[in-house]
Order: sequence, then structure tokens, then C-alpha cells
Amino acid sequence: MYPDSYLVSTEGKCRGVFTEIPKQYHSLLVRNYEGCLIIPGLSDLHVHAPQFSYRALGMDRELLAWLNRYTFPEEAKFSSSSYADEAYGYFVDALRRSATTRACIFGTVHRKTVEMLMDKLDQTGLFALVGKVNMDREVREDLLEKNSAEETETWLKRTMGKYKTVKPILTPRFVPTCSDGLLEKLGELQRAYQVPVQSHLSENPDEIELVHRLCPWSDFYGDVYDHFGLFGGEVKTVMAHCVYSTDAEVERIKERGVFVAHCPQSNTNIASGIAPIRKYLRKGIYVGLGSDVAGGAHLSIFRAMTDAIQVSKLYWRLLDPEAAPLSAAEAFYLGTAGGGAFFGKVGRFEEGYDFDAVILSDQRLPHPHQLSIEERLERLIYLSDDRDIRAKYVCGREIEL
Ligand code: GUN
Ligand code: FE
Repeated sequence: MYPDSYLVSTEGKCRGVFTEIPKQYHSLLVRNYEGCLIIPGLSDLHVHAPQFSYRALGMDRELLAWLNRYTFPEEAKFSSSSYADEAYGYFVDALRRSATTRACIFGTVHRKTVEMLMDKLDQTGLFALVGKVNMDREVREDLLEKNSAEETETWLKRTMGKYKTVKPILTPRFVPTCSDGLLEKLGELQRAYQVPVQSHLSENPDEIELVHRLCPWSDFYGDVYDHFGLFGGEVKTVMAHCVYSTDAEVERIKERGVFVAHCPQSNTNIASGIAPIRKYLRKGIYVGLGSDVAGGAHLSIFRAMTDAIQVSKLYWRLLDPEAAPLSAAEAFYLGTAGGGAFFGKVGRFEEGYDFDAVILSDQRLPHPHQLSIEERLERLIYLSDDRDIRAKYVCGREIEL
């Protein structure tokens, strides 16, 4: 925490925090955010753009029934460009106005409207990895792809290198909806195009059971992705949830440097469970936060921090007295440096890191005493919303709020 300091950025990178501006930076423009807190931008490691429209609806089922009842009918609508234009417009506007600067985003199976989503995100200046979803089994007819890998290759060719801060990420939805043959081809595409990978892992007991039935040859759920070269190592990979990962799966996650996207609100809303985040942190596994809209109703990563703290307390109280609850500082770390690491040198104000910053005012939250900076930040984690954001920067560029 640095009171009354100068945060210096040139060429999109952070140059450090100083109490006086170093000589070599004297010619730089100074922006005065006196009275505000300046924090690294927040990273959302797992969110479904097409589900934004039905967030806060339909929380009365568990994962597999929830997908069939709510998610798939909604995602099927994204075959329509006019529907996607409107719905993705709402999502992108909300993300732009939030404290999130970077996100790993799922689209749908529809290549053309996923490209519309990427175009819209690019216009904001936010940094986004966006996935055209792959599905070729265990899903209603109108979302079932016959040429999933071919469409994905076309999409990769069309979008790689097209944008400044938006890039494609391979997105097999999860093992139940991806045949071995499809995963095999996606592994080949990964090696040919060197793109990162995102998916879901060990979220719900019935889902895990289904994976065992569909892939009886596998040692555990994550082993399926790994078998096809879609699970870390050389491949930057983020897996959402990891609520029920077995010891063997946890070891593989650690060994391969796979990132865990912790989605506490979604895991509560659709009654998936509580991920053992303390265990993952102790093992040195990479962990960040995900809103997982629409499993999660809120896009806010501040809200995800609060949820992560709260569920960690329930886990400690009800399940494991050894698993100390997360502190506010740890939750803040997960939403900034923890998740930011997935994108490279991101999420810290250290020399050479990408300059992603959010300027927050706590004027709306008056307090009768003088609070420390730590206390002011803790209150902003629990209480702030988009109204408290004064400015936001990604790679040194100011984002229009
Ligand atoms: N597993 C497969 N698809 C989904 C999804 O859309 N949301 C969540 N929470 N889990 C999934
Ligand atoms: Fe999800």
C-alpha cells in the first residue's frame, strides 16, 4: 500500500510506484486522482457472455438439468445475428463499466456471432480471450456441431492477429459434450495454432459420473483433457470450478501448471459445492476468480472476492478445520495478481507489468473515523459497485466507462 504516491506508466507498462516522480519521467502527463484508491485491474477467469441475459434467473436446478433447462435454450438463440448483437451489446457494456480489465470468455458454438462478440470487445479496449464453444454430443440437436473442429479452424484463421487486445482461446465446453474424436482434433489445432485452452472441470458429482461413463478409459476427469494435449504444460490452460478434484487430479493440475478459476457464487447458486481453495493455494496451484455468469448472477469480481471469503468460512466451519478461511487480502490477490498471471505479467504494479489499473472512489461510503488504506480497500471489496469507478486503464490506455 502506497499513500500519496505516483504510479508511473509508459508504453503501456508499469514503471513502478514512487513518492516523488523520478527525473526521467518529469515530462510525462500527470493525472491527479487525489483521494482515490488505485488498484490493479481485476481479472475474470471464467464468464459466459451469452448467459448474461438470463443471469439471476433459474437457480432451481443442478448443473446438468440447469444446462438443459436454461442454458442451452438461451445459447441456441445466438444463431441469430440480431439477437446476438443486442444480447452481446448488453454484456460488453456491463463488462466495460465494471472493474474488470481482463477476462476469459465463453461464447457459443456459433462462429459468426462469436466474431461479433470479439468485434464488440475489441472496440472497448478491454483485454479478452474469447472462445467459440465446441460441442458434438450430449446436447440438443440445434447446438450439436457436425464440423466443430473445422469451424474452429476457420474461426482461428479469421480472428488470430485481427485484434489489439482480443484473442481466441480454444473452448471445448466440457468432456460430456465433446467426443474423443473432437478433443483429438482440438489438440491438433492447439499444437498448430499455439492458442490457450479453457474449459470446465469436476464441478458437480453427476457431471463427474457422466465423464466416467463416457470416457471409461480415463484415470480421472482432467485426465481426458490431458490425454488430448489440452491440459497445461506447454498449453496455457484454465479450468473452471475444480470442486471435486481427486488427489490425482490435483497433482496433475499442479504438475501441468493449470490455472483454477474459482467460481464461488456459481458453485453456490447451482448447488455444486465449495472448492478447496486453501488446499490449492498451499500446494502452489495457480488460482484466480471467475464470475461464471450465469451460474453466478453477478459480473463483479469484487463480488467474487466477497463470495470466495464467505464460502471459505463455511468450508472451514463445516468441512475442514485445517482449511483456514481466506482473508480479504488473499481474495484481493486472487482477483488481481492470481488471475492476472494467466495473461502474463498482469495484476501487479511492478516494473515491467502491463499497466492495467482501476481508480476507485470511496466518497459514497463515508465513515466517521479516518480509515487506513487497507480498511478502505476492504470496504470497497464488500461495498463498491460500478458507481465508484472513476477511471480504468488497460495496457496504459484509458477505457471509456
Ligand atoms: N459446464 C458446462 N457448461 C457449463 C456452463 O455453461 N456453466 C457452468 N457453470 N458449468 C458448465
Ligand atoms: Fe462456466
